[in-house]
Amino acid sequence: MAERVVLAYSGGLDTSVAVRWMIENMGVEVVCLSGDLGQEGSMEANREKALGAGAIAYEQLDLREEFARDYVAPMIKMNALYEKQYPLVSALSRPLIVKKQVEMARRYNADALAHGCTGKGNDQVRFEVSAMALAPDLELLAPVRNWGFTREDSIRYAQEHGIPVDATKEKLYSIDDNLWGRAIECGEMEDPWAEPPDGVWQMTKLTAEGEREVVVGFSKGVPVSIDGKTMSLYEVIIEMNRIVGAYGWGRIDMVENRRVGIKSRETYEAPGALALMMAHEDLESITLERDLQREKTRLEPRYSELVYDGLWFSPLKEALDAFVDSSQEHVTGEVRLKLVPRRCIVTGRRAEKSLYDYGLATYDAADRFRHADSEGFVRLWGLSVQTWSDTQGPGSRDWENEPGEA
Ligand code: ARG
Repeated sequence: MAERVVLAYSGGLDTSVAVRWMIENMGVEVVCLSGDLGQEGSMEANREKALGAGAIAYEQLDLREEFARDYVAPMIKMNALYEKQYPLVSALSRPLIVKKQVEMARRYNADALAHGCTGKGNDQVRFEVSAMALAPDLELLAPVRNWGFTREDSIRYAQEHGIPVDATKEKLYSIDDNLWGRAIECGEMEDPWAEPPDGVWQMTKLTAEGEREVVVGFSKGVPVSIDGKTMSLYEVIIEMNRIVGAYGWGRIDMVENRRVGIKSRETYEAPGALALMMAHEDLESITLERDLQREKTRLEPRYSELVYDGLWFSPLKEALDAFVDSSQEHVTGEVRLKLVPRRCIVTGRRAEKSLYDYGLATYDAADRFRHADSEGFVRLWGLSVQTWSDTQGPGSRDWENEPGEA
């Protein structure tokens, strides 16, 4: 039985109630941890709320730079989008929080970790599987999954126990955000046919007019500058969210497959993430050799699934990280994006080690490309299908028949 637990504390209703509930029903001491990952809203009141609910200690960590450097950077290098669309905003934050929880558990001599996730989502998977990888000895508690409270029950519990929360009965959306983007679920959007109401968008409200260009500089696959001005990755992301978001671009509306077998309608906004990955992938088109580029493209969805499914700390993920780092050696250069209201497109790319060879690409120059070489090349390239075609006999293939004939 656990005696002291480190809770990943958001300051919201569920985790606040969880503090007291675990003390009363599990007889544990609770230590709270809040992390700043660039989410909106203030965490100022968290200490008071956590201690007010009965926690024996509270710590708040500024994780923004670390999050950008160790968690977001690999996403950019991998062009990581789950099911081709979702930039893994929430999936990405959990492993870092767990890493900090484990460190804290060691410092406080705790024997368990806890989170405030329900049983229907992906985040419980990420919390627990990350913890199982990092600290297989620690017990895992998921009070919110077990207590069977409705939202009203939780509010009543908080009131009865004098837990300070500012929740109202009506909570329209479930929102999770950090500097890589923002996820908005529930409310009327649980009907996949219903258009997301305008009010759900925060980062992508169209306020800019006219058009503008923005040049993103990369070094070994990681963004390092905007319009020639060098900055940390964290700053690049903040800046791109601001610039691109103002053009009302960067929204995602999809039905995705959760790890627990549920299809769910999700909306996201991630203007910086989508623009940076679009630019990065484009730069790869001139800096990656063909076969490397193709193989990498095949691995990208696999990598995204691992992250989505909570396997951040796993041997396959580690091996793929080594692959991607090696692939990015020459992904250094610049990409120009053009923004017009509701649109963002690439309009140019350049790199010192560019593999794009003007002499080879143009149709009219004399150069080291020998046209005569193509004759033999094409003959051998087609030899196999030519041989096959010879054995088929006349009229045996569909394409020899008139449309409609058998
Ligand atoms: N569907 C997304 C994911 O699984 C977002 C989850 C957002 N979490 C939340 N508690 N609202 O990564």
